[in-house]
Amino acid sequence: MTDQMERNEEIKSLYMEHVNPALMRLVAFMGYDVIEDHSSGSHVWDNLGNDYIDCLGGFGVFSVGHTHPKVVEAVRKQLERMPLSSKVLLNEPYARLARKLSEITPGDLKYTFICNSGTEAIEAALKLARLKTGKHGFIYTERAFHGKTLGSLSITGREAFQQPFRPLIPGTKMVPFGDADAIAKTIDDDIAGFVVEPIQGEGGIHIPPDDYLPKAQEICRENGVMFIADEVQSGLGRTGKMFACDHWGVEPDLMTLAKALGGGVMPIGAVIGTPSVWEVFEENPLIHSSTFGGNPLACVAALAAIEVVEEENLCQRATVTGEKIISSLRRIKDEHPDVITDIRGKGCFIGIEFSDSDIGGLMISALAAKKVLVAFMLNDHRILRVEPPLAIDDNDIDRLLASIKEAIVEVGDIVATLNS
Ligand SMILES: Cc1ncc(COP(=O)(O)O)c(C=O)c1O
Repeated sequence: MTDQMERNEEIKSLYMEHVNPALMRLVAFMGYDVIEDHSSGSHVWDNLGNDYIDCLGGFGVFSVGHTHPKVVEAVRKQLERMPLSSKVLLNEPYARLARKLSEITPGDLKYTFICNSGTEAIEAALKLARLKTGKHGFIYTERAFHGKTLGSLSITGREAFQQPFRPLIPGTKMVPFGDADAIAKTIDDDIAGFVVEPIQGEGGIHIPPDDYLPKAQEICRENGVMFIADEVQSGLGRTGKMFACDHWGVEPDLMTLAKALGGGVMPIGAVIGTPSVWEVFEENPLIHSSTFGGNPLACVAALAAIEVVEEENLCQRATVTGEKIISSLRRIKDEHPDVITDIRGKGCFIGIEFSDSDIGGLMISALAAKKVLVAFMLNDHRILRVEPPLAIDDNDIDRLLASIKEAIVEVGDIVATLNS
């Protein structure tokens, strides 16, 4: 056994002994039981020197790619000057990022609170909506994913995640995604906000009818309900526009961001709100806060990431690349209608729906063997996500598509053998 293989065995046993044995077994089943070593652009290398195309993208984190030089340089410079904030003196990167976000987000969004993750951004949005309206409840959508802390979990539409933790926050009501009338029917006197992913991610890449979000916004405005867009996964160019909301011209009262905002280098979350929402801080500016939120390292990473999206035309590239991947996947689907039931996507936010979740699982293992990183969607395991860095090049796209084609044939053979 080589030194590197021994290292792998040691880390696997550390996972078994000290991290999460069940997770370790799952990772081993998928064929991902090697140590990640370094990364660049659309590629990740393991400690044995294997080169993977990253089409999982850290669940949507690596939109500008891995270790983008501009983001790394911004973080390195800040690291040497002042990595964390004193929390009392003025934090320049925070202020500059907040201004930039107000420039690129739709409508009246102007003020930003920065935290460290997507679920924290959702928690902040829920609290701000309650403060602004004086009401308590929330409407959310079936199959939605907004995070796993208690507040976010209360509006995450998957029974398997919610059930073990009940009672969750009271007054939440689930409606079908894509049905604006259902929102109108469900609103009562105590609903503070309607929370929605403009394009559902973890639920399986669901794109709503064109009139859904405009109508939902109108219904919220008419009823004094905060319209909260969760762009944690769809934001920053992933869907071919800076924000998925921009496809339908909607202007939320609150928008949450995270994942790609950190440029693939730093963790960060943000909630951006209108001046009207931000009035709630007048009485107590510390009514919501975070020790590490808005740290200068994360803020300079986010500023650099937004500049990369703009300078490298990543929205347009996501559109062109996404169309190429989606049309090729649809041709593959036509050849394997029993295995693939649907291909959905906008930009590089793409899902392949298999006829059942076991096939999805087998596909992950088959693709891992071909050194392509993918994963299923957290709220629907029949759907494999394809979320590459937005600047993925043609060679890598061809390798991805060829690998999917081969993997489907292999998995189809296994399924046929099992059924015979
Ligand atoms: C739309 C959406 N909101 C919120 C979250 C939670 O983000 P985090 O895992 O950073 O807490 C996710 C994570 O996948 C997400 O996709």
